[in-house]
Amino acid sequence: MNTDKQWHDLPFSPEDIAEGQSKGFLLNQQAYFLVKKHGQVYGYENSCPHLKINLEWKPDSFLDFDKSLIQCSSHGALFNIKDGKCVSGPCIGQSLQPLKLRKLDHSWQAEA
Ligand code: FES
Repeated sequence: MNTDKQWHDLPFSPEDIAEGQSKGFLLNQQAYFLVKKHGQVYGYENSCPHLKINLEWKPDSFLDFDKSLIQCSSHGALFNIKDGKCVSGPCIGQSLQPLKLRKLDHSWQAEA
């Protein structure tokens, strides 16, 4: 994990993510993803606490079937969208690393 974090412009606007959808991207050579749920956008490092590998099974697919939880495609760990905590699977009790977001006048930034 990069410990020398700085604010970077996001490569897209989180407002363009549809409700119940997720989107992956790279920032400062690290993979991240955003999820929109109930109008709120949540961001996390794209790294499963179990084996530190990417979560998605295909591009931009980070959610379970009913889009209520974040799902790791490797061994099925499930994470709360709101706080990134693992609620089922081999890393239960651990959490995804949150990505801090901020909105400026005409752009969005993330701390990475
Ligand atoms: S790598 Fe995610 S559950 Fe195993």
